[in-house]
Amino acid sequence: MQVAIYSTRPYDREFLTRANAAGRHELVFHEAKLDVDTAATAEGAQAVCAFVNDRLNAETLHRLHGLGVRLIALRSAGFNHVDLSAAAALGMAVGRVPEYSPHAVAEHTVALVLTLNRKIHRAYNRVREGNFALEGLLGQDLHGRTVGVIGTGKIGACFARIMAGFGCRVLAFAPEVNPELTALGARYVPLPELLASSDIVSLHCPLTPQTRHLIDGDALATMKRGVMLINTSRGAVVDARAAVDALKSGQLGSLGLDVYEEEADLFFRDLSNTVLHDDVFARLLTFPNVIVTGHQAFFTEEALTAIAETTLANLDHFAAHGQALHMVSVERIV
Ligand code: NAI
Repeated sequence: MQVAIYSTRPYDREFLTRANAAGRHELVFHEAKLDVDTAATAEGAQAVCAFVNDRLNAETLHRLHGLGVRLIALRSAGFNHVDLSAAAALGMAVGRVPEYSPHAVAEHTVALVLTLNRKIHRAYNRVREGNFALEGLLGQDLHGRTVGVIGTGKIGACFARIMAGFGCRVLAFAPEVNPELTALGARYVPLPELLASSDIVSLHCPLTPQTRHLIDGDALATMKRGVMLINTSRGAVVDARAAVDALKSGQLGSLGLDVYEEEADLFFRDLSNTVLHDDVFARLLTFPNVIVTGHQAFFTEEALTAIAETTLANLDHFAAHGQALHMVSVERIV
C-alpha cells in the first residue's frame, strides 16, 4: 500500500523506514504539513500518515477522499486535529497510536517541574558566565508539596506515580477514577478544589471542546498565588494570554509548556533566522520563570520506535481488514 507521510523530519524517516524493513508498504515522505493546500500530494496513496500539527479538517479530508485515500494513520495519541465526523461521513478510517511511551511524556513533565523549581535553566547560564551567585535560584522541597493532576489516564498516572515518589501529596481530577492513582494514595477532588489546593498543577487531559481553555483567567485566579502550572497535553487547554497576565501579576509563579495553542506555525522547525510574529509567544519567552520546549515530551528512542511500529501495525491491519488496528471512532468526541 502506498502511504503519504507528512510533517516528516529525518528521525521520522529513520524510525518508520526501520519499522518497514520488510518493505510491506511504499512510504512516501513529505516534509510539508498536511492541510488543504498540500493534500494533492497524496495522489496515488491509499493512506496518509499525519502528525499533531497537520490540519485534517473536513476540506482536507474531502480532497484526500477524492484522491482515493481511505486511511488516516496518526503518529500521535491525540486526535483533536482530525474532523472525526467528516471522516466517518466519508467512510475513512482513522487510526492512532494510543500508547507509545507514557513514561517519555511523564518524565519530561517532571523535568519541567524540577527545572522550574530549582531554576536549573538560569543556573546553567550563570555558571557558564562565571556567575556563581545563588540569589534568585531559591527553590522549594518538592517533598510535602501538593500536586494536582488533571487527566489521569496513562500519562497522568505515570506522572502521579513519580511525584508520589518524591513525597508529594497528589490530588486528581478526571471524569473517571483510575484505581492506579487511588492505590498511590491520590485523592480525586472536584476541579475547583484541585485548583485552589495545589502548589503544582499539571495537565494530562486530551483537548476536547470541554477542555479548551480549561485553564483560563478565571481558573488561574482561583489557584494558589505563586502556583506552578505545567502543560504537556495540548496547547489550547491553557489560555496563553491569560497565563501571560497571571505571570505579570505574580499569581502564576512559574509556567512550563511543552505545547502551545498556536504551535502549528512554530514548532518542529528551525526558525532561528526569522522574526517571531506571535507576540504572546514572544512575551512568554521573556519571563525568567517560564520554560517552553517545542513539543518534545514524546521524543525518546523508545517512543519513536513504538510510534513507528504501531503505525506500521495500523497500516498492515488496514491493508488486510479495511480498519486500522487502533481505530479512533467518532464516539470519542466527548
Ligand atoms: P489517556 O486517554 O490515557 O488519558 C486522558 C485522561 O484525560 C483520562 O483520564 C480522561 O478521563 C481524562 N479527561 C478526559 N476529559 C477530561 C476533562 N474534561 N477534564 C479532565 N480530564 C479529562 O491519554 P494519555 O495517553 O494519558 O495522554 C494525555 C494527553 O497527553 C493526550 O490527549 C495528548 O493530548 C497529550 N500528549 C502529549 C504529548 C507530548 O509530546 N507533549 C505526547 C502524547 C500525548
